Amino acid sequence: MRVSGKTKIAGVMGWPISHSRSPLLHGYWLREYGIDGSYLPFPVEPANLKVALRALPILGISGTNLTVPHKEAALEICDRVDKTAWRIGAVNTVIVEQDGTLSGSNTDAFGFIENLKSESNWHVKDGPVVVLGAGGAARAVVAALVNHGVTEIRILNRTLDRASALAATFGENCCAAKLTDANDALKGAVLLVNTTTLGMIGQPPLELSIETLPRGATVNDIVYAPLQTNLLRVAAARGNPVVDGLGMLLHQARPGFAAWFGVEPKVTKSLRNTILEDLNA
Ligand code: ATR
Repeated sequence: MRVSGKTKIAGVMGWPISHSRSPLLHGYWLREYGIDGSYLPFPVEPANLKVALRALPILGISGTNLTVPHKEAALEICDRVDKTAWRIGAVNTVIVEQDGTLSGSNTDAFGFIENLKSESNWHVKDGPVVVLGAGGAARAVVAALVNHGVTEIRILNRTLDRASALAATFGENCCAAKLTDANDALKGAVLLVNTTTLGMIGQPPLELSIETLPRGATVNDIVYAPLQTNLLRVAAARGNPVVDGLGMLLHQARPGFAAWFGVEPKVTKSLRNTILEDLNA
């Protein structure tokens, strides 16, 4: 599409940035909705993040997504940060306001819940949820579950201290245990979410027995490369409903796109296939 002085511009800052699928994703929506807009990858070294973010209003740019390693540093740079981003400890979406100030938010929690809602029958009030992992991704998932009123969240992690710290941050509905105690923790659960990096391309597989997990429980792996992880394969084989991680990536992009380009975008099968083709290329 032709770029002019009226073209709305947004992008994604990271270091490195070449791996990011966000330009493909937002580019798809820009074409789909015929918007005079452009979404660009910005390679920004960590030391330059503040200058780069402050340059957005000066350059007339509508905002930016943030990816590794900028999400935490942005908390201190934005002029305001919403409650969810503070609790997660990371900003992934920055909106330039009319007055040139920067509003930071975190849309990973939104993306996680929207994906689950659209791909499964899981219902918040059903019962206990087990979360595997206690890193940045786990923080977003636990924040989403707490915000949605889940009353029992069992956080399992290789390193117990990290699980305990995460549980303490998110309050009395959370408890912590070691990953090796999964047998007990999975009993009676209605949802199991893997947020660890295990199972990702280049990482060891997640080798977890889910024998004690009820067969009606939904199993969600937020890993999306590969789409079908070992966990999802095993879960599907024993009859559990499964949800892969690609939808979270797609849904988390919606609020930023809507704010920068003025259209509420839809996550469709065709969008999913476009991103999948790129992941498999
Ligand atoms: P992210 O921000 O993507 O969540 P992270 O903060 O590095 O990444 O967290 C990675 C998660 O995967 C952690 O829960 C980590 O467990 P530890 O806290 O014990 O490190 C988990 N993880 C990574 N490699 C693992 C392994 N080989 N076995 C078990 N858990 C692992």
